[in-house]
Amino acid sequence: MQFFLDTANIDEIKKYAKWGMIDGITTNPSLMAKEGVSLEKRIKEIAAVIDGPISSEVISTDLKGMIEEGKKMSKWHPNVYIKVPMTPNGLMACKALRSEGINVNVTLIFSASQAILAAKAGATFVSPFIGRLDDISEDGMSLIADIMQIFENYEFETKVLVASVRHPRHVVDSMLIGADICTMPETVFSKLIQHPLTDIGVERFLSDWKNAKKK
Ligand code: E4P
Repeated sequence: MQFFLDTANIDEIKKYAKWGMIDGITTNPSLMAKEGVSLEKRIKEIAAVIDGPISSEVISTDLKGMIEEGKKMSKWHPNVYIKVPMTPNGLMACKALRSEGINVNVTLIFSASQAILAAKAGATFVSPFIGRLDDISEDGMSLIADIMQIFENYEFETKVLVASVRHPRHVVDSMLIGADICTMPETVFSKLIQHPLTDIGVERFLSDWKNAKKK
């Protein structure tokens, strides 16, 4: 499984890139809006730090606009993956961009039938939003299990990128199901390492060592 950071903040990306475990980045217009820099500048800055897929989302809603934006963004760096929404135009844009060898991430997936359509359109990634499903009392993780099963049944090459991840349990459960990628905000990534018994253990080892040296 690969870990992506779900952020457009370059300081966060640089901080966690040092750990050597970030395989890619997902951004979206809401995340970009917080940054106050141009999308092109930020995507290029990210590409200089992370050697892996970087999702950059189109703003157009019409087919021609989506394709033009996608083609333009794909020239910024070979690792740019074009994020298109799960709409009829998004699906057609996905097909058109993929036919030109451009990688596409179909986002805002909330059902297995949507994931099937995206896979049939040749999407490189599908992004099911599990946290937003949990928020409305649906079961985001069972959607991941369904999509994984369907993609396996039909040998789709499309990868499942688990998105809208809210806590470490989402990450672990996604891995138990065998999802390909999990994208998470730094608030979740930073929690993956935390355990109070580890902190207590480190403290105790050090104090025992210091006390023994005094004797
Ligand atoms: C994924 O690509 C999205 O950017 C993201 O995971 C959305 O998460 P949210 O539901 O926390 O906004």
